[in-house]
Amino acid sequence: MKREAVDRSLAGREEPAPGTARAADTAGVPQAPAGWLFDLQAVRVRLGPVDALQDVSVQMRPGERVALVGANGCGKSTMLRLLNGLLQPAGGRIVRDAAARQALLFQRPYMLRTTVRNNIALGLWLGGLGWADAKQRAMQALDRVGMASLAGRNARTLSGGQQQRLALARAWASRPDVLLLDEPTASLDPRAKHDVETLVAEFATGALADGARQGPVSLVFASHNLGQVKRLATRVIYLEQGRVLADLPVDQFFNGPLLQSQYPAAHLFVKGELP
Ligand SMILES: Nc1ncnc2c1ncn2[C@@H]1O[C@H](COP(=O)(O)OP(=O)(O)OP(=O)(O)O)[C@@H](O)[C@H]1O
Ligand SMILES: [Mg+2]
Repeated sequence: MKREAVDRSLAGREEPAPGTARAADTAGVPQAPAGWLFDLQAVRVRLGPVDALQDVSVQMRPGERVALVGANGCGKSTMLRLLNGLLQPAGGRIVRDAAARQALLFQRPYMLRTTVRNNIALGLWLGGLGWADAKQRAMQALDRVGMASLAGRNARTLSGGQQQRLALARAWASRPDVLLLDEPTASLDPRAKHDVETLVAEFATGALADGARQGPVSLVFASHNLGQVKRLATRVIYLEQGRVLADLPVDQFFNGPLLQSQYPAAHLFVKGELP
């Protein structure tokens, strides 16, 4: 099979080719100031008639684990697509660290109609790795997520939780510096939720590393699960109708009087969502 043919078969999908971490598309735009992964200044993103993001100014540093929270339609997925370069701003500017390799995972991961192993290996091969090395690294990644015994299964026959774990293994194998996750555990049962969350935590802290070059991975994730946000995030960004209404370290977001006094809308959201 030719790489180009596979590329064509994947064309037209919104999601990047599975497992192909890529440096952000920064051709012709300035480099992020030293130390920032992302630098957004007064960004506006328009989707059809909707301002999906408005006047968003945030910076993110390497090593941060940023949760995006807020009601349905507030702009979380739009933000992840913007960070990844799938969307461009209609106003303001975004600068991405061009050297940082990204992997973006959608809520329902895209599975190629082939084996579990090949779902990882094909992405690596498309990224330029030789087929033998790609297969080997795919098996290593499956081993890391406890799925080596499923390597020969058709990926589309996996359960939702298994598919999500495979998607994480695929991302891990592509060795990203930044992992962007859109509601990684929505619609999973409690056990699968726990498994995926543990994997994300190990991924983010570098615990999954094999002694090679993989260290901690920066994380930006959207979630409706505030318990998960507390467990995984170092920082929380609360969005409402496309605007950032609060942006705080995780402990200040959930504890202490600051949220209630200075960010009443975010406080009400947290009170409403927590049991
Ligand atoms: N393709 C599109 N065309 C027009 N409007 C869109 C499109 N995609 C999203 N929107 C609108 O942009 C806004 C932000 O949507 P987005 O998907 O980013 O929200 P979200 O916070 O991820 O919501 P959810 O929690 O439901 O996933 C919403 O008002 C949504 O209706
Ligand atoms: Mg969304």
